Amino acid sequence: MWISNLKIRNFRNYDSLEMVFEKGINYLYGKNGVGKTNLVESIYYMGNLESFRASDDKELIKKEKKEFFIEGIVDGLEYSLLVNKENKLLKIDGILYKKYREYLGKTNVVEFCPEEVYLLKDFPRDRRKFLDKEISKINSGYMHKVLVYNKLLKQRNELLKSEDVYKEQLLSVLDDKMCDLQVDIIETRIVFLKEIEGIVNEFNTSITDKYRLEIKYECCFKSVSKEEMLKQYRECEKRDKERMVTSLGVHKDDFKVYLDECEASGFGSQGEQRFVVLLIKLALVTLIKKRINKWPILVLDDVFSELDDSKKKEIYEIIKEVEQVFITGCDLDEINGINKFSIYEIKGEE
Ligand SMILES: Nc1ncnc2c1ncn2[C@@H]1O[C@H](COP(=O)(O)OP(=O)(O)OP(=O)(O)O)[C@@H](O)[C@H]1O
Ligand SMILES: [Mg+2]
Repeated sequence: MWISNLKIRNFRNYDSLEMVFEKGINYLYGKNGVGKTNLVESIYYMGNLESFRASDDKELIKKEKKEFFIEGIVDGLEYSLLVNKENKLLKIDGILYKKYREYLGKTNVVEFCPEEVYLLKDFPRDRRKFLDKEISKINSGYMHKVLVYNKLLKQRNELLKSEDVYKEQLLSVLDDKMCDLQVDIIETRIVFLKEIEGIVNEFNTSITDKYRLEIKYECCFKSVSKEEMLKQYRECEKRDKERMVTSLGVHKDDFKVYLDECEASGFGSQGEQRFVVLLIKLALVTLIKKRINKWPILVLDDVFSELDDSKKKEIYEIIKEVEQVFITGCDLDEINGINKFSIYEIKGEE
């Protein structure tokens, strides 16, 4: 996939901006605060209907304005998004998409920025979000299963708090349905992580030449079978009733990344950890291409400034295959020695 034209209005610091991009690597450079990240954020928003750094669309609307507008031509199709605090009006080639779910996945944009080392370090919740969001880019039925599971989980938690006379029977119906879904969700997550692991280990880099990367899914259940799950549910039932909350399930699962048996989050320098997460993201890009036969658009925000020259070259060797990449940075020195870039100076609003 590639975006040839982009127009934005009232987005972050921009009143209005129009850009024409090329296939291959687009390098956007400029001083701090001119709006480089904002620009790539608008491209990311077009694919994901959310920002990679703001939790609320409100933050994206230019101060004192009521709505923002993004228009882009991706693979020849015209995408247009009009977003205010309550609503999003989404169109592709003039056709209105009322359901966000149906719009999502039409354009895939994968992003990486240095703060994303959180994927190794922070909370299991963030890793689960990564799994659910990225798997849904290559598996159209997956998100629906997660949403149904979450709905049933809510019902189960409410039931645990209630004095319903049919509590036991209802619990057993819910447990049965939830376990069916969880077998599918866990198996899909494990396959996804194994595929990412395999692709990362095939990359030719200083890290993957030195260490074997392993990604282990951490599951609440001892095995991924419905019988085992139901058995553990029964074992926890007393505790769940006392605490009035469901203690087991995919909403608690996690994954960890290891380099030669050592957990990556406690091993290696900050730069190496960031590099590992970057490799995971690049593996994701390769996996998406493998599954849907189209490259996602790749956004690397402020990544090269953090890498030494040899790592930059290693990354370049991987991303040069991708149909279109956006890289932001502060000056041209960051891409010294690599000359296959389309270069744009970003000056922000004058
Ligand atoms: N909703 C908004 N309305 C107006 N301005 C905003 C809004 N949100 C962010 N900004 C401004 O956008 C500016 C540019 O931000 P951006 O993060 O894109 O800079 P950058 O070019 O990536 O800089 P750096 O090199 O430091 O990463 C900031 O000065 C910020 O104050
Ligand atoms: Mg920036």
